[in-house]
Amino acid sequence: MGATREKIAILDCGAQYTKVIDRRVRELRVETEIFPLNVDPARISLDDGFIGVILSGGPASVYQTGAPQPHPALFKLDVPMLGICYGMQLMTRAHGGSVVAGEAKEYGETLITVMPDCALFRGLAASQQALMSHGDRVEALAPGFTVVAESPAPHSGGAPIIAAVADAARGRYGVQFHPEVELTVNGVTMLQRFLYDICGACGAFSLENRLETTIADIRRTVGDQDVFVLVSGGVDSSVTAALLVRALGPQKVFAVHIDSGLMRHQESDRVCEALSAIGLTHLRRMNAADAFFNARAEMDGRAIGPLSHATDPEEKRRLIGDTFYHLAQQAMREADCDIDRAFIAQGTLRPDLIESGNRDVSVTAQKIKTHHNDVPLIQAHRERGLILETNRDWHKDEVREIGRMLGLPDDLVDRQPFPGPGLGIRVLCATQPFTTPDDDAIALELDRLAKAAGYGALLLPVKSVGVQGDGRSYSHLALIDAGDAHARRARFADWQTLKALARQIPNHVHAVNRVAIALNGPALPAVCNRITPTTLTPQTVERLRLWDHYVSQAFRKAGLFGRISQLLAVLVPVDLSGGDGVSLAIRAVVTSDYMTARPAAIGDEIPIDFLLSLADELSALPDAPTRVFYDVTSKPPATVEWE
Ligand code: XMP
Repeated sequence: MGATREKIAILDCGAQYTKVIDRRVRELRVETEIFPLNVDPARISLDDGFIGVILSGGPASVYQTGAPQPHPALFKLDVPMLGICYGMQLMTRAHGGSVVAGEAKEYGETLITVMPDCALFRGLAASQQALMSHGDRVEALAPGFTVVAESPAPHSGGAPIIAAVADAARGRYGVQFHPEVELTVNGVTMLQRFLYDICGACGAFSLENRLETTIADIRRTVGDQDVFVLVSGGVDSSVTAALLVRALGPQKVFAVHIDSGLMRHQESDRVCEALSAIGLTHLRRMNAADAFFNARAEMDGRAIGPLSHATDPEEKRRLIGDTFYHLAQQAMREADCDIDRAFIAQGTLRPDLIESGNRDVSVTAQKIKTHHNDVPLIQAHRERGLILETNRDWHKDEVREIGRMLGLPDDLVDRQPFPGPGLGIRVLCATQPFTTPDDDAIALELDRLAKAAGYGALLLPVKSVGVQGDGRSYSHLALIDAGDAHARRARFADWQTLKALARQIPNHVHAVNRVAIALNGPALPAVCNRITPTTLTPQTVERLRLWDHYVSQAFRKAGLFGRISQLLAVLVPVDLSGGDGVSLAIRAVVTSDYMTARPAAIGDEIPIDFLLSLADELSALPDAPTRVFYDVTSKPPATVEWE
């Protein structure tokens, strides 16, 4: 590789933010490569196109035994370096300064004072909001370095903390705060100064150029072999298929879409149409609903299934997962290509690869995350170098942009995440009420909390999945009510009180992990101890599919869809009127990473009148849900999916 490509080496010191640094630098149109901290500096020289180095932060203390250490010759490299947090402390020590443990481990936004005559802060005001992490801090500067930013002393009478250091002559810069995160308001400008003013980048790494490079890479790697790809309908695998068609032409690309019968309304049709429209001709659709609903498997030495009788979330997942596995193997064997020599393409994204390759920063070899498609056939292919990760260079928002550039329709490119097990984990299944000996006490406590906030509450005899403490929980659902339709409108419009109650209930009543509000119907009964036996039959899934479609169309028509990260409908096996109907829960969450999430706010992301009318419309449909709920729980303690 020649020096014509300008790149930044990001050295991973174990930080959760390495991926974010990577994304920011790439957004600033400079290519990056991520290495473990102890990489041999010979691999990141100017001759290889590296114009600078960023050392990420990390959780360790520099003087802790076993703390990650750089190669001894790293700081001899003659390229500019920016050390972030732990990276700054390593840099300080390596150049002869000293680092001490901070008295307080504070973590949060701080107003720091920067010196605008430092190249890193050129053009910025002296006072800047930054995300500081006071753990260790620089005590004595290394020779040649000066202080270029300070943050206030942690307590009165103390000395200010050194927030940034620089040795401009040697091109060495260190910041104690995190410029890569949004809480550092002008962090992107600081990174831009480093890349452009200090490292001399010219920003040729555009998405258009990268698309061309990726296409050239695919052509070079694949040669005249065939490529097999499984397309789920998600944006990642669709973009993979589109890239392959663009790079290799339609004759070489063999795609299979498995319709599990658990997809949403007309989803498989739309996916296949969109992929045909971009020229994918060898596209096989396996209509495998029967195979899924009849699936049987073994779990923990027990025979489980068929899926249409299953109720336990883990059993459902196992039955669905195993069926995908078998059908994927079958599809590969039956594909009209020479599967022993063909490449298998996957839509794995860059953040997944970063995570897997750099979790243990002392290991230089890239470990590839076990993808959910990583069946033995794929592992054998990987060993032979026949796995093609076409999206390995992209973050999620980039893959969407690439999809658009390749002509995929917006509704496919902007798709919200949809889990592999599909609607199968959105039908809450049960054949008996869920009760525990503590239910009376739980109900009393629930009632007390709700009444204190001006609401009513009901403990339901069903359980859903959540995350509490260190692991998954599988606990009670609680309903909040506000009386008749009139009272409900006013009480639910008071989102702050409702939100506080929804947080308080699982905090005080640990046996409850999810809280929803009843949007329609008469006031709640005093107790509910019946359920409507429900398993994962084709009829139940079809019912949910229609309701789910109605809900998402309503959100789209009202222009609310784009404000929500993920919108879903869940079939809940309770009928509060004492009949044998079921209810429907709407779950709408706002999140950037899906690790944590909050419910979309009533009155902000979702107008109250819209939600109440939608509930009434749903309950007026043929074969309607008897009640409609809205899930008001964050993740944690609930998860996004109910399972
Ligand atoms: P939870 O329910 O764990 O979900 O809060 C977080 C995000 O992950 C999605 N999800 C899945 N995606 N296969 C997937 O590809 C799965 O098995 C799966 N389970 C959950 C979920 O929809 C949400 O976006």
